[in-house]
Amino acid sequence: MTVPQQIAEVDPFHAMAIGRLAYDLAAEGRDVIHMEYGQPSTGAPAAAIAAAHAVLDSDPGGYWESTALLERIARHYEEAYGVAVDREQVILTCGASPAFVLALSSLFVPGARVALARPGYVAYRNTLKTLYLEPVEMPCGPAERYQVTAAALDALDPVPDGLILASPANPTGTVIAPGELAAIAEVCRRKNIRVVSDEIYHGLTYGDAAQSTLQHLPEAVIVNSFSKYYSMAGWRLGWLVVPPHLVAPARARMNNLFLTPSVLAQHAGLIAFDATEELEGHLHTYARNRERLLAALPRLGLSEIAPPDGAFYIYADIGHLTNDSLAFCRQLLNDTGVATAPGIDFDPVDGHRYFRMSFAVSTPLIEQAIERMADWFAARR
Ligand SMILES: Cc1ncc(COP(=O)(O)O)c(C=O)c1O
Repeated sequence: MTVPQQIAEVDPFHAMAIGRLAYDLAAEGRDVIHMEYGQPSTGAPAAAIAAAHAVLDSDPGGYWESTALLERIARHYEEAYGVAVDREQVILTCGASPAFVLALSSLFVPGARVALARPGYVAYRNTLKTLYLEPVEMPCGPAERYQVTAAALDALDPVPDGLILASPANPTGTVIAPGELAAIAEVCRRKNIRVVSDEIYHGLTYGDAAQSTLQHLPEAVIVNSFSKYYSMAGWRLGWLVVPPHLVAPARARMNNLFLTPSVLAQHAGLIAFDATEELEGHLHTYARNRERLLAALPRLGLSEIAPPDGAFYIYADIGHLTNDSLAFCRQLLNDTGVATAPGIDFDPVDGHRYFRMSFAVSTPLIEQAIERMADWFAARR
């Protein structure tokens, strides 16, 4: 085992700083539109909240793992993807974030090299670094729709030990096409690359549903959560699906590091699984918001984007306006009250000339944000 020689250096999550500034401005009475965080502005489904109220009144609320929820999640894989998952393979977590810690620490020893797309979700890089794993960032541009390809993975020399996939991805919302996902799985099988697949944006797609990596690679570790489709980010509930040989190590890590997820969240999560009508309503709002933003981008002078297939983000090139995306987002927020996330969170190399807008807010707010940004962008051209 490689012994780390120094404490891991972890980068800040800059969108959080923008979020703090946005809340400070709101406290001063400014009218702020929150498009910086990747979270639904809606709450948990009404039926889930009702279930939580009933639990508060009747349950002592100790450490607990819901068998019913484990079974429901296992059944979801059969129903949504046609894949058989035993409930033993499901591990409940306090969101996708700790699920990554369990997955990566169960799969890799310090020093292992794990490939991932750049741009990508900020915490992938930083969770890897925290665990003394080496991120191998694969530059992915508009030509690859910001996603890892089988050819690029196959060409990596040396061969990485692992790969993180995200489809739909954050910050771009792009999906890996089924054929490409199958080809990536083939490379991983042939080269013994272990895969962690972040499927947190499943359910939020604007064309075909995204495939699970499990459909192509039964030994993949799947990360998912109630934070996005289920609109329950603050409830801190997620799960892992692991192959049988990883059940014991992953479960031992969960129980030692985090014990169990909250009782309230587990009860509510079980009900949320079947709050389909309400949750599909959110998806319709996001679809409408996506259309509004895509139609407005030319007016903002933003042409370098990959239209998102899923999630609720647009990642746009602002290189003609700035080479400091953090300063750009601060200025945009100060001048217009529209909070967005700087590209440097997602891409330490080229992110200085990108920003990300989250459209998981109401359509009237998206329309207001477009109006405010249109004048501001026009003044800069
Ligand atoms: C791609 C991706 N994975 C994981 C997470 C973390 O989610 P959770 O709230 O379940 O910890 C996020 C949050 O924004 C995300 O965008």
